[in-house]
Amino acid sequence: MKGIILHGGHGTRLRPLTHTGPKQLLEIANKPMSQYAVEDMVDAGVKEIAIILGDVFPDKVKEFYGDGSKFGAKITYVYQDKPAGIAHAIGLCKDFVGDDKFAVYLGDNILKGGIKSYAAKFRQSESDALILLCEVKDPSRFGIATVRGEHIEKIVEKPKNPESNLAVIGIYFLTPSIFQIIKNLRPSWRGELEITEALQNLMISGRKIEFGYVTGWWKDTGTPEDILDANRFMLDDVRTDIKGSVESDESLQGRVSVGKGTKILKGSLVRGPVNIGENCQINSGVYIGPYTSVGDNVIIRKGEIEGSIIMSNCEIDTSTRIVDSIIADGSKIIDTPNSSPKGHRFLLGERSQVML
Ligand code: DAU
Repeated sequence: MKGIILHGGHGTRLRPLTHTGPKQLLEIANKPMSQYAVEDMVDAGVKEIAIILGDVFPDKVKEFYGDGSKFGAKITYVYQDKPAGIAHAIGLCKDFVGDDKFAVYLGDNILKGGIKSYAAKFRQSESDALILLCEVKDPSRFGIATVRGEHIEKIVEKPKNPESNLAVIGIYFLTPSIFQIIKNLRPSWRGELEITEALQNLMISGRKIEFGYVTGWWKDTGTPEDILDANRFMLDDVRTDIKGSVESDESLQGRVSVGKGTKILKGSLVRGPVNIGENCQINSGVYIGPYTSVGDNVIIRKGEIEGSIIMSNCEIDTSTRIVDSIIADGSKIIDTPNSSPKGHRFLLGERSQVML
């Protein structure tokens, strides 16, 4: 089985975070979100992977994944010059796929528990596709399936009046039979070749589609709130792992991971689940509360932070409480002489500077 990971698209709903890189490289619990897809594929024995690159900083993706050997995979890159749809992106991989079955993973989807069991099922299956369904609260945001008993009756992209709340998640198992269907697709109302329409047409042509229900946790990280949610869920699995130096044991409560070269100074308090990367400094008086991820090379001189993502190379020196915030690489939040201690939510793109 081969694999395709979609790493294109514009990520407009995540601006300003996506002004300086593709959204799939934004970090969830200190790991680019598309790395979860790569690792899930490798774990399922899918090691030959094509990554679809769009026009938002594609070189950053190539720089990070290289030839894939660091991740136990063989990665090739396929360029999609504009985001003409998920089915369009898959269609570009016809030669890469050849006669094999293949798994497609949208690079902004995260499925806790991975895809190993589904891949094993599809390897044995006679079906032309296996899709995964998950109940959602807001069905008009997703591709939605109507199911009767063991059969899927209909799949519709983002219906205005959804017939069910079963979202088709962004992980698809397919055979090369999909390529002929994709070739005959026309752009939808949003100008894209839709994977949901391809699946619907595959069924109409008499091919068999199987489905499974996602039992664990799944997220499409389309909005900043989704990213913070995903961060919380991933941090639920953090284990205490101290590679840096902690001056006083009293500084750590609950499950906290501290990377190499990081210093947690006496008089600070880190209450897990929290993940702190490498070469950071957390000063005396600083409080880092549950469900916070801190990247590498971050200095927190003064501050109270909770439920937030602080990416690498940031500097925080403020009496303002930072809650439910995403602060991208290289940003600074510092006080001015008249600052007053209040709580703030931030969504800061790379290298932002906020003086409070
Ligand atoms: O997350 C599940 C949903 O994903 C499904 O329920 C929908 O049926 C499916 O259409 C898709 O909906 P979205 O509107 O969320 O898709 P989005 O445009 O966000 O694209 C999904 C990923 O694929 C994202 O990582 C960007 C990438 N992409 C997207 C397009 C349209 C590409 O690489 N190329 C593209 O042309």
